[in-house]
Amino acid sequence: MKSEIIVISLTATLAGSLTPLSASEPATQPALRTQFINHERWPDNNGVHINAHGGGVLFHDGTYYWFGEHKIAGEAGNIAHVGVRCFSSTDLYNWTDAGVALPVSEDPTSDIAKECIIERPKVIYNQQTKKFVMWFHLELKGQGYSAARTAVAVADQPTGPFKYLHSLRPNAGAWPLNVTEADQQPGPKNFLQRDFAGGQMARDMTLFLDDDGKAYHIASSEENETLHISELSEDYLSFTGRYIRVFPGKSHEAPAICKHNGRYWMLSSGCSGWAPNAARSAVADSMLGSWTELGNPCVGTNPHNNLGPDKTFGGQSTHIFQVAGQSKLLIAMFDIWSPEDAIDGRHIWLPITFTEDAFKIEWASEWKLPGTPQTSE
Ligand code: GAL
Repeated sequence: MKSEIIVISLTATLAGSLTPLSASEPATQPALRTQFINHERWPDNNGVHINAHGGGVLFHDGTYYWFGEHKIAGEAGNIAHVGVRCFSSTDLYNWTDAGVALPVSEDPTSDIAKECIIERPKVIYNQQTKKFVMWFHLELKGQGYSAARTAVAVADQPTGPFKYLHSLRPNAGAWPLNVTEADQQPGPKNFLQRDFAGGQMARDMTLFLDDDGKAYHIASSEENETLHISELSEDYLSFTGRYIRVFPGKSHEAPAICKHNGRYWMLSSGCSGWAPNAARSAVADSMLGSWTELGNPCVGTNPHNNLGPDKTFGGQSTHIFQVAGQSKLLIAMFDIWSPEDAIDGRHIWLPITFTEDAFKIEWASEWKLPGTPQTSE
């Protein structure tokens, strides 16, 4: 299949659009979108900027579901006051607010008590159990980023309500498949060994569902220095204890994974908090195999902020998903964080172009999907 991405223009409205940030501001019914427009506010069906940050997209039964962090205004929005919000779409341009899929808890003793931190929620569907499974990065209320846990919730419907199950530091008591002798010895900076008994740290995360039905949890671990790729159980609700360490000491964050031509491709960032840094890429022949780092996949400049590849157009990766029926068309999603007014974080969605041994992501202010839906190969 030939996937021709039609880039409409590189000119952009430099100011943000008039789309309001919350339902309390007056909104006008938005015109139907026929293309992706990057960096500007992206109105939902109510004309309100889509409130789904650090998100991911699931395709199920003809509909796309976009899950993300619901942010509120101001710096207060950097912690969770509402929960995980969901939007649905059949064309990827126009999104309907489907409400809060996983609310924070009013019970102050709950892991997900209001004012905890919920980041980067991702949802996959389990064909065997017929359940929708959500994992997300969780930090406990009032503890900053010290808990470094991953958490799981489950639902019968894609839009929820999701039932919160539990949170954990994964792989307690298990060494990674690629562990070395030295990794198992105590040392001042040996976080793997330090956390062996209690479970490994898990911060920025994503999920990857392979076409054989196996699911993987990928997270920044070991004080954000090393990524861990872990196999999930058959019901996707727990860890099997089979995992690998990837790029030790290289501080990868914001991982996103896709499969193309039988190989696994990773997009990620460096580690600089809300401030953008250069994107990274990598490839492997199997998820728990050996990963090879490639270069920065980004090309071009975002005219809204004049930021190019060294700052990932001002964004940070969050997810890659395949357009339904188009096996070669993969879209990379990024967040332009706005920590001083968290609700105003902008979205960047760009197509991925593959060569034999690398991929690139080129800036486009506006672009369209290929017109005719094509059959998967
Ligand atoms: C980023 C991370 C975000 C959030 C932020 C907090 O590096 O990707 O998800 O955790 O740090 O500073």
